[in-house]
Amino acid sequence: LFSAVEMAPRDPILGLNEQFAADTRPNKVNLGVGVYYDDNGKLPLLQCVQAAEQRLMEKPAPRGYLPIDGIAAYDNAVKALVFGADSDVVRSGRVATVQALGGTGGLKIGADFLKKLTPGAKVLISDPSWENHRALFANAGFAVDTYTYYDAAKRGVNVDGMLASLRAADAGTIVVLHACCHNPTGYDLTPEQWDAVVAVVRERSLVPFLDMAYQGFGHGIAEDGAAVGKFVAAGLDVFVSTSFSKSFSLYGERVGALSVVCASKDEADRVLSQLKIVVRTNYSNPPTHGAAVVAMVLNTPELRALWEQELGDMRTRIKAMRQRLVDGLAAAGVRQDMSFITQQIGMFSYSGLTKDQMVRLRTEFGVYGTDTGRMCVAALNSRNIDYVCQSIAAVL
Ligand code: LMR
Repeated sequence: LFSAVEMAPRDPILGLNEQFAADTRPNKVNLGVGVYYDDNGKLPLLQCVQAAEQRLMEKPAPRGYLPIDGIAAYDNAVKALVFGADSDVVRSGRVATVQALGGTGGLKIGADFLKKLTPGAKVLISDPSWENHRALFANAGFAVDTYTYYDAAKRGVNVDGMLASLRAADAGTIVVLHACCHNPTGYDLTPEQWDAVVAVVRERSLVPFLDMAYQGFGHGIAEDGAAVGKFVAAGLDVFVSTSFSKSFSLYGERVGALSVVCASKDEADRVLSQLKIVVRTNYSNPPTHGAAVVAMVLNTPELRALWEQELGDMRTRIKAMRQRLVDGLAAAGVRQDMSFITQQIGMFSYSGLTKDQMVRLRTEFGVYGTDTGRMCVAALNSRNIDYVCQSIAAVL
């Protein structure tokens, strides 16, 4: 049965973790995967999470099956966070939300639902995009193409090119957009540019699918969520996948959601019933712990305030590391202007290094980033920054 099975290539991001784990060099640095580490190089367990876990443990709950769409208090907290508790869409019951296995799970539920709903639609992802977007939508059965996004020469977004790609798309095309902290480039649209994108999406009757994996890592929770509000305000049907992996440092708990904004409560009820079928036929129902923690934090004012503070601290530290990277590269002898690193936003820097340079960084120096030149600046700290700067300077 398996004699003809080919060895699949390593995952371009998570595969690096495997290589990194096998690397015995003591000074190795993992800038591959999008994970935030604190200044001691440790994965944080947030205080708000610990406090919520303590409260949950005070009244330990049995672990029965959750409803197919997850914990109601969690789904409601997601709606409030993403769309605003008092927003018209939430109050009128026009949002269908299901708890999902991380942001990837939210994307997958949405992709499977859309494949049943509009089997002939094409999917457009940004050029470049998170490595898994293409694979995920292709595996759901879609033809996946790209829309123009990154302008390497200008180091920013080619907005005119993006709008032209969207204008050329067939009605019904599903457009996967990064709601904030674009992965991998770190370049986001301005509010005015978002307005222009929303207008084209509406004119061309495209289907917006917003991936929101880094809310709070750009400018702030509300600021990073603003693009979603623009699509909703335009009266569009919109898909939003949410991840709490990074913002709660709960990577392994797989806490995420899919929300679908519909035209009426009746539509949302019917959409929810279909999303539940997708969930039931994939993994039946979601796990309890991570979502219980996130719901407790988001629904408890003092824990919510603590979370916002801790998330703000992570954001601030990443920004400081960007500046130290720019300064450190100059000190290490890099002549070219690297100040673009401080203009990028979120966890990543699209460094402009070539694949060969990234491979050299990995093999000669034990500094791991993706072949595309993406580096996770959220994994830099005061101990590894000098070594990383010297290593980059050497390959440049
Ligand atoms: C990343 O882009 O590194 C993260 O989103 C983690 C992942 O699953 O790829």
